[in-house]
Amino acid sequence: MSTESPCQNPEIRPAGSRSHTAGSRSHTAGSRSHTALETGSPADARSFRCVLVTGGAGFIGCNLVRWILEHRPQTLVINLDALTYAGNPANIADIRDHERHRFVHGDICDEKLVGSLLDEGVDAVINAAAHSHVDRSLMRGDEFVATNVGGVQVILDAIKARPQIRFVQVSTDEIYGSLPPDERCDENWPPAPGNPYAATKAAAELLALSYRNSFGLDVVISRCCNNFGPYHYPEKMIPLFITNLLDGLRVPLYGDGLNYREWIHVEDHCSALVAILESGRSGEAYNISSGTGLTNLELTRRILDLLGKDDSSVEYVKDRPGHDRRYALDSRKIAAELGWQPRHNLKDGLRATCEWFQANEQWWRPIKSGAYRKYYQQQYAERLKSAAI
Ligand SMILES: NC(=O)c1ccc[n+]([C@@H]2O[C@H](COP(=O)([O-])OP(=O)(O)OC[C@H]3O[C@@H](n4cnc5c(N)ncnc54)[C@H](O)[C@@H]3O)[C@@H](O)[C@H]2O)c1
Repeated sequence: MSTESPCQNPEIRPAGSRSHTAGSRSHTAGSRSHTALETGSPADARSFRCVLVTGGAGFIGCNLVRWILEHRPQTLVINLDALTYAGNPANIADIRDHERHRFVHGDICDEKLVGSLLDEGVDAVINAAAHSHVDRSLMRGDEFVATNVGGVQVILDAIKARPQIRFVQVSTDEIYGSLPPDERCDENWPPAPGNPYAATKAAAELLALSYRNSFGLDVVISRCCNNFGPYHYPEKMIPLFITNLLDGLRVPLYGDGLNYREWIHVEDHCSALVAILESGRSGEAYNISSGTGLTNLELTRRILDLLGKDDSSVEYVKDRPGHDRRYALDSRKIAAELGWQPRHNLKDGLRATCEWFQANEQWWRPIKSGAYRKYYQQQYAERLKSAAI
């Protein structure tokens, strides 16, 4: 990995850039990104010279860094990740030496480090660093509060001293809590998080908006539904089920399997985040959804079908405590204001994801051994009873 910041290296000129200087306010509204139309962004989309992506060695973060490098040839990326159990250098192995990417191993709670990175000419931060697994937040919440709230406060304080920087807080549909049947929530729906993970994400949003109100920070918030795709850590439902089935194991389905979720391909989430970064209105939140929802049981059956298995591979296990029943987003705002649309459908995306896990055993097998195995035992041993783990 390169050790010199791409933002400071005068040798590295973003493709298509003219006379950007480190630290300049290159994202003035009106400087139109020449590739904006590829994602349906409005014509007045801003362009950014150097984006700090946090959590860029995690599932969504690594896909986001890759997406920006591919679709925004004028943009340099600094990628800050603490490499927790969910952060994996293998997720960014293919872009490790990319001249517009620099990986920094570090913590968003490290005030000095965050400040020094922002001084490298960063003009936007997309915060995808988080502790992200609901089940783990039910085991212990301290790390969730420390990173998901404390880390956000550190970033906000650092931006407060550098107010030209735009901040995108990557949030989730989980902040709304469980919805009544047939309801769909828009961005004005009141937050009612139903688990510690979701509560920390809601707190982070409120904190970010309070910095905007108090100090005029340029803050935008995204709230996305469940993601799937390459590099998805196999503790989450889709990659857990795929990899278990590839190993001939059963899949642990919570409760009656009727919890309802919407699913989006991670690339669509990434394009939405960039649309929000470039064109989102300051102080606003944007729901992001494919609009395709189904119950966990229906989703399980689709995965079983794709991998040539049947219901005998399903093990119903004791439900997660406080398991939210239903999330469903109204995402008309991002479509109407930013022109964003998802490009993947669930059927093809799920098939491609199964194929990715089949072709990339060398990526997930090391994860599913060691510390992961210990976690799996702790999480499912009681619940699984007779199932082979
Ligand atoms: N996965 C989803 O379906 C989904 C949906 C909506 C929103 N989100 C949000 O997207 C973001 C990314 O989620 P994900 O699924 O990629 O999670 P992930 O757990 O796969 O990745 C999180 C990354 O953050 C890093 N990290 C954790 N604590 C850190 C710290 N203190 N400093 C620096 N890095 C740290 C980890 O090492 C890891 O690489 C999270 O904010 C999550 O709330 C996820």
